[in-house]
Amino acid sequence: MRVPVYVATLVATLFGVSATTTENAYKNRYSQWMASSIISREQGVMTGLGGSSEALQAGFVQKAFTALSTYYPNSAATYEQYIQKSALSTTLFLSNASHNALSYPMDRLSNGNALLALSPTKVPSPYRATADALRLSIALNPRNSENGLWYYVYPYWSYLDGMYSLGPFYSLYTLTTSPRSSSTTAAALDDMVYQFELLWDHTHNSSTGLLTHGYDALRKAVWADPKTGASPYVWGRSLGWYTMALLDTIEILDKEKAPSKYKTVLLQKFRALIPAVIKTVDPKTGGWWQIVDQAGRKGNYIESSATAMFSYSLLKGVRLGYLPSGLAPTAVKLGIRAQKLLTDTFVVKEANGTLSYNGTVAVCSLNSTASFEYYVGQPILYNSILGSAAYVLASLEVERLG
Ligand SMILES: *[C@@H]1O[C@H](CO)[C@@H](O)[C@H](O)[C@H]1NC(C)=O
Ligand SMILES: *[C@@H]1O[C@H](CO)[C@@H](O)[C@H](O)[C@H]1NC(C)=O
Ligand SMILES: *[C@@H]1O[C@H](CO)[C@@H](O)[C@H](O)[C@H]1NC(C)=O
Ligand SMILES: *[C@@H]1O[C@H](CO)[C@@H](O)[C@H](O)[C@H]1NC(C)=O
Ligand SMILES: *[C@@H]1O[C@H](CO)[C@@H](O)[C@H](O)[C@H]1NC(C)=O
Repeated sequence: MRVPVYVATLVATLFGVSATTTENAYKNRYSQWMASSIISREQGVMTGLGGSSEALQAGFVQKAFTALSTYYPNSAATYEQYIQKSALSTTLFLSNASHNALSYPMDRLSNGNALLALSPTKVPSPYRATADALRLSIALNPRNSENGLWYYVYPYWSYLDGMYSLGPFYSLYTLTTSPRSSSTTAAALDDMVYQFELLWDHTHNSSTGLLTHGYDALRKAVWADPKTGASPYVWGRSLGWYTMALLDTIEILDKEKAPSKYKTVLLQKFRALIPAVIKTVDPKTGGWWQIVDQAGRKGNYIESSATAMFSYSLLKGVRLGYLPSGLAPTAVKLGIRAQKLLTDTFVVKEANGTLSYNGTVAVCSLNSTASFEYYVGQPILYNSILGSAAYVLASLEVERLG
């Protein structure tokens, strides 16, 4: 296998040196240490062999590395090269909406923001063609009778998960490629916000303030609530995706100066959700449970991807001023504490100087009984990018605090 020079360089710096030396080199910048470990494992590059979550793994790495490259300019070239490598790999699998992109779940759209950044003009390129195909794939994605986008091939089912990919891409594409005043711009942004609202309306539990994993618009699935179609359990990672989706979408709407009414709706949801998330933190460890609102139930455990996602959301929500000031001190304290728990408990320092990441649950699908036993019985993965990239984002927020 041919290894690109920059990967070889990184591996060489990690290889053969003791963990202590590496630790000194990174001076507790765990975001960068984990990122170079991800690069050394060549994760987040699509091969076509990694199943339906490969597109999300690539997109999530691109997002985490994009955040790193803006905060650590001295290492930006390394991250940008890897983002490019990852994005280029997706052009082999997502370049045609009907032919290949739609064979991946809505998570495919997580690649769109890096693809747009790599093709800032409309000059034809594989990046731009793939971004256009992803945009077209939203139009071709099946919908339910309320116009809700299906998450994947399961008829009439929508998941919280998909919003992390849809919200930021749909917004950035719309705001940067069509005239601001056009009716298609308004229609796309309306639709984007509506997808957040629809999921909220179907899955929101008014006594806990939390959202369950998804809903079946036909109310026919074994798990579907007869009235709302909602699945029964609050799965940590899916709530994490939705929470980060609100935050990252609001950030883009702000940056691109979108009409304020879109931000208003999403911000109201973010501000409603965060206090409910805060209420469910495990007071003993500072982490979040696999099934968020069933603390201590037999089989339930503290899960490392959801914990990282909530740490990121709390800290970045405060940094960007999206949380009420009264909530900020608690949010910062909990965000820092959660990242420390992850570092102390789930990050593994390997003998060769790389960091590994433990305790991330495998994919949980609604194509199941969606019972408590199902969620807590799914395998725990070592070095799942869905956990380690979230940890990069959470750690970066902690490092930004200085
Ligand atoms: C996408 O693939 C289909 C066949 O599956 C083909 O008919 C169509 O021309 C392709 N579109 C583009 C833009 O290449
Ligand atoms: C809301 O959550 C509570 C606590 O988990 C649960 O007891 C209740 O059944 C839920 N309500 C609905 C409508 O599912
Ligand atoms: C470092 O060690 C881990 C654990 O043994 C291994 O999985 C990984 O491939 C190694 N990385 C390199 C770059 O050798
Ligand atoms: C990873 O976590 C699992 C489950 O908690 C545990 O059994 C295993 O020992 C951990 N692996 C490492 C290398 O820490
Ligand atoms: C849904 O689950 C069933 C039963 O486990 C399985 O046979 C089927 O392949 C799954 N469908 C998809 C699209 O993964």
